[in-house]
Amino acid sequence: MISKYPDPPLTIAVIGGGVIGRTLATAWTRSGHGVTFGVRRPQDDDLLQFAAGIGANVTAIEPALTGTDTVLLAIAGDAMPEVVPQLAPQLAGKTVIDATNNVVSPVLNSIADLSALAPTARVYRAFNTVGWENFADPTYGDTIGDLLYSGPAGIGQQAVERLIGDTGLRPIHLGDNDKAHLADALTALWFTLAFEQGYGRGVGFKVLTR
Ligand SMILES: NC(=O)c1ccc[n+]([C@@H]2O[C@H](COP(=O)([O-])OP(=O)(O)OC[C@H]3O[C@@H](n4cnc5c(N)ncnc54)[C@H](OP(=O)(O)O)[C@@H]3O)[C@@H](O)[C@H]2O)c1
Repeated sequence: MISKYPDPPLTIAVIGGGVIGRTLATAWTRSGHGVTFGVRRPQDDDLLQFAAGIGANVTAIEPALTGTDTVLLAIAGDAMPEVVPQLAPQLAGKTVIDATNNVVSPVLNSIADLSALAPTARVYRAFNTVGWENFADPTYGDTIGDLLYSGPAGIGQQAVERLIGDTGLRPIHLGDNDKAHLADALTALWFTLAFEQGYGRGVGFKVLTR
């Protein structure tokens, strides 16, 4: 499938080779973007095989960030306080998407650290609110799901909306990152519905309008 967005393809570093990184990388390579996984074990056979299957590359984290315009952070959330300061110099000038949920911290996102340590990066809070199943299949019967996200207006926003659209979901902008807590509240709502109220991991969100 070729992206419905006309711009040139993005070059994306997906930091983290787990389930969310793999799911989004699959949607993005399918849409024609260039994807490099940046991981701490670039020799991992399973990831190498997976990446080859979708047409992505695998390297260590630092080289993955070189020459890419867009970065998805998709590592364990509790590693972010340690990892963000290491990555920050290489995030300058890039569109950076924080999909991580630090469930052992009172704040799920790492937007404050990213914005402080990489002040020229365009930082977004996205892909954190629902389980990976919703990015693999964005349809709910006849309905297309929505993905609510935050971050600054401008070229970074265009890239993020394009990448959300490439999963099949409809992007809904909540505003700049002073609204990131709303995206995080949705994560909490998703966990409650999926695991406490029996809706399961495929539960998603839709904004209804008249
Ligand atoms: N799964 C979902 O449905 C979902 C949905 C939305 C958001 N998220 C968020 O996305 C993030 C990743 O979730 P996941 O489900 O993909 O997890 P996962 O399958 O467990 O993968 C975690 C990844 O993080 C890497 N990692 C852990 N600690 C690291 C460190 N100190 N430095 C570098 N890499 C490190 C792991 O590398 P190793 O293989 O080397 O350990 C692995 O590639 C989490 O923050 C999660 O909350 C997940």
